[in-house]
Amino acid sequence: MKPLQIRSVAYSVPETVVTNQDLTKLYDTSDEWIYTRTGIKERRIVSGNQNAADLGYEAAQKALAKAGVNPDELDLIIAASSAPPNLYPAIACDIQARLGITTKIPAFDITAACSGLIYGMQIARGFIGSGIYKKILIVATDNNSRLVDWEDRGTSILFGDGAGAMVVTESTDGVDDILSIDIQSDGSIGEYIKYTMPGKTCPLVEPNDIEPSHIFMNGKEVYKFVVKVLPDYIANMLEESGIKADEIDYLIPHQANQRIIDAVQQRLGYPDEKVISNITYYGNTSAASVPIALAEGVEKGTVKLGSTAILCGFGAGMTWGAAIVRLREGIC
Ligand code: COA
Repeated sequence: MKPLQIRSVAYSVPETVVTNQDLTKLYDTSDEWIYTRTGIKERRIVSGNQNAADLGYEAAQKALAKAGVNPDELDLIIAASSAPPNLYPAIACDIQARLGITTKIPAFDITAACSGLIYGMQIARGFIGSGIYKKILIVATDNNSRLVDWEDRGTSILFGDGAGAMVVTESTDGVDDILSIDIQSDGSIGEYIKYTMPGKTCPLVEPNDIEPSHIFMNGKEVYKFVVKVLPDYIANMLEESGIKADEIDYLIPHQANQRIIDAVQQRLGYPDEKVISNITYYGNTSAASVPIALAEGVEKGTVKLGSTAILCGFGAGMTWGAAIVRLREGIC
């Protein structure tokens, strides 16, 4: 396989902050209840016409600038989103147009929920590794605030909006930045987190319209499943790669619930400074959470570049995946 280089990672979040205290205006809850169960204190929420494609475009622009890659050099755009403004056209096609790319490169969306970035990286690795494409933009963007039921206090407390973007290319120096990567799914438990597309029935066939939709989540089952599977999954991945846990500098996990992050931290025996968490300020931004945690961590100085990290995601599907990566100087 040809080696892959991570050239840049960037993020974009909406300006509006909604605190736990704000949510008490919607239903019976409290900052204390939400914080102790999830680690979340506030989240960013889009307003007006802003949507996942806009956030993704902003993150993409930043990532391309950071990478020093001109949009016209791209061979492929992959957007990972499960809360897009439109089912089609794809966010990736929209971003292709907004970046002013006139060449007819392929651009498509993938739906792997909160595992979206890792799934996108694995797809990109296949294309770069085989020599089919050399320069790929991966955008991971979600806007779940438009899909949740804001009367459902068990689910709407969790989500925030945001986007991340990563530029990957064939390695310029022969060094592969992906030390190991794996993606998995189990469709038999797909009912745990679900969003059914709203729509209309054909009046000639059935009289009733389909109910308006929102995210359904069985939080307890999701929690139990992830805590059971994820810590061992990452520990086994390290073992199979012949890498000792203490050789890796950071764990940058999907930001779904602080208690889930703690469970993985405990299994790997990592001290707090190795584990990157910003869930307190962004909530669960779904596919965007890993790139936001990474790029924001670099901005704040909690992630030092010239290091290695385990990135991992999990979410609806159920899907999950992890990548052990090199974080080169200058990528954020
Ligand atoms: N404020 C106050 N009370 C709430 C509440 C809220 N926001 N949401 C639920 N409750 C109540 C419930 O009504 C229930 O009350 P009851 O016992 O009187 O019926 C009680 O709190 C416990 O509810 P439950 O749903 O069992 O809570 P929980 O301990 O499982 O915590 C989550 C709920 C969502 C925080 C937790 O299940 C979770 O984080 N799961 C993982 C979800 C996840 O990560 N999803 C994304 C994956 S990508």
